[in-house]
Amino acid sequence: MIYLNGEFMPIEQARIPVLDRGFIFGDGVYEVIPVYSRHPFRLAEHLRRLQSSLDSIKLANPHNDATWTRLIGRLIELNEPEDQSLYMHVTRGPAKRDHAFPKDVTPTVFLMSNPLTTPPRQQVNEGVCAITAVDNRWLRCDIKAIALLPNVLLRQEAVEAGCVEAVLLREGFMTEGAASNIFVVCNDVLLAPPKNHLMLPGITYDVVLELAQAAGIRHEVREISEAELRGAQEVWLTSSTREVLAITLLDDAPVGNGKPGPMFSRMYALYQDYKNRVMRSG
Ligand code: PDD
Repeated sequence: MIYLNGEFMPIEQARIPVLDRGFIFGDGVYEVIPVYSRHPFRLAEHLRRLQSSLDSIKLANPHNDATWTRLIGRLIELNEPEDQSLYMHVTRGPAKRDHAFPKDVTPTVFLMSNPLTTPPRQQVNEGVCAITAVDNRWLRCDIKAIALLPNVLLRQEAVEAGCVEAVLLREGFMTEGAASNIFVVCNDVLLAPPKNHLMLPGITYDVVLELAQAAGIRHEVREISEAELRGAQEVWLTSSTREVLAITLLDDAPVGNGKPGPMFSRMYALYQDYKNRVMRSG
């Protein structure tokens, strides 16, 4: 079951007009929220980021947080899996094709749920392979825009190389992954790039930094050079659907000793524990 513009329905029945600006221009924003045991994880933070993306594209939020929460809760109920990946999508709506904003247009609101498939045990235990690629995206990567063609092409490049992610480099510095944030460990210090217009402010990124702070793990938020990335003891990727994963092979070279490192194992355990605690408390 999905939600489209006021109605819940089976996805096969969902229709949108071909002139929707999401379809024509990629003029819209989205969110992906992990749902564990039917509880949306960090919902308030996802709704805050949605608001920020909407503000950035000058699109009025079609709902307040209470309405979003009600719609999301109902969609979770209507779908079977206990763990779901909830997709939220707002476009500027259907209008005659013209780049400038149309007047009196109703935004399109679409929500869908897919089963949440977190990484298999083997990926957690052994780590995953990534390539590096030039970050050729625009300068507003902080907006969670539905226009994802560069990310699609970059991720595809990784897949064609037999890898799961592309780690992006812009002018000698690491920004993020094609659909994830990236952390590195250098000299036993966890490093995260600063939130700015060059990366998406990840919800999982925030959780990892909070957990590092609470556990007394040495960490710094600062720019990470390509040399630091390539010489790192550990490299991790984080996202709502992949949680925290170690990258153990980067451009065919082992990261550290080629196995997930001790700081990763610690963070993975902290993350699972935090998730279970939050879910138990509802
Ligand atoms: N993507 N950076 C980019 C470019 C992303 O697309 C994502 C997530 C992240 C991680 O953000 P978060 O921790 O809030 O999931 C960083 C989602 C999962 C997607 O597009 O499917």
